[in-house]
Amino acid sequence: MSKIEPILDEALLKLQNAGLNDIETIRIEYLGKKGKITEMLKNLSELSIEEKKQFGAEINTAKTKLNEAVENKKKEITARLLEEKMKNEKIDISPAFAFPFSKGHKHIITKTIREMTDIFVSLGFDVAEGKEIETDWYNFEALNIPKDHPARDTQDTFYLEGSQNLLRTHTSPAQIHIMEQTKPPIRVVVPGRVYRNEATDATHSATFHQIEGLVVGEDITFAELKGTLSLFIHRLFGQEIDLRFRPSHFQFTEPSAEVDIKCVICGGKGCRVCKQSGWLEVLGCGMVHPNVFKSVNYDSEKYTGYAFGMGVERFAMFKNGIDDMRVLYENDIRVLKQF
Ligand code: PHE
Repeated sequence: MSKIEPILDEALLKLQNAGLNDIETIRIEYLGKKGKITEMLKNLSELSIEEKKQFGAEINTAKTKLNEAVENKKKEITARLLEEKMKNEKIDISPAFAFPFSKGHKHIITKTIREMTDIFVSLGFDVAEGKEIETDWYNFEALNIPKDHPARDTQDTFYLEGSQNLLRTHTSPAQIHIMEQTKPPIRVVVPGRVYRNEATDATHSATFHQIEGLVVGEDITFAELKGTLSLFIHRLFGQEIDLRFRPSHFQFTEPSAEVDIKCVICGGKGCRVCKQSGWLEVLGCGMVHPNVFKSVNYDSEKYTGYAFGMGVERFAMFKNGIDDMRVLYENDIRVLKQF
């Protein structure tokens, strides 16, 4: 009887200091078939019935206690190991949810279109949309571009297979649609995408954007054209920018002009971007040709008007100091983030 207590204590002490792998060994040492406590049961036969009862009960209690201790120890160690494991494998996810989120924003082309059209809106212009798929009539014929004009060369125009349709090469066909649909006075700008069958390089793209402008009414003069477009350029590039109107030719305007600004890169000294000329061409314009009014049954004795067209990409590049048009389309996130 006196033997069981120290054995149990000894077992419990060993258990206290045990690692996970020692637990089973300890259990076998005391409770296994030949374990120290199990062996004691074998000695019972030598005892009296009274002693058997008492001692047997004590051994059973000891067995139960030790079994419980073994299970508790196992649980305790596994819990601790799990906790350590979780601590070590912890991933700090807080940066993923940190404020402020980096937000997307409008593309530089869209921003530039907004900026440009906003100026015209502030001058009382409406904003309209044209169509990207056009017919020969709207893109050329109605704009006084005869059949043999080089602008119709298949080099420049994308014709749609199996139809009379083509991808508009400029936003000017929108002039025709607007005049067909409305009576003067007209004061409108039309931003949109245009297509030309050209190889892509630093200054060309097969698809780019233009903003068309059209003003028609009684007594609309070239002076108004000049005043409006000068004001536009100054609003966009600042009051200090130098600009000039240079005589030019377009089939759908007469007289025609092009507007140049002093090169924003070199300040007029001459550089790669302005091709050493010191000037950057930014738009085409002119008084609406009487033949164009004829196409839409407008009385050219009664009405006069002016039109203009400009490439958005060039403005986006000049305003932001970008010297290669391709970066506008590549959608490299490192570039997009800057604008
Ligand atoms: N459509 C011409 C172009 O693409 C620009 C232009 C528009 C010129 C309106 C005069 C008047 O080059």
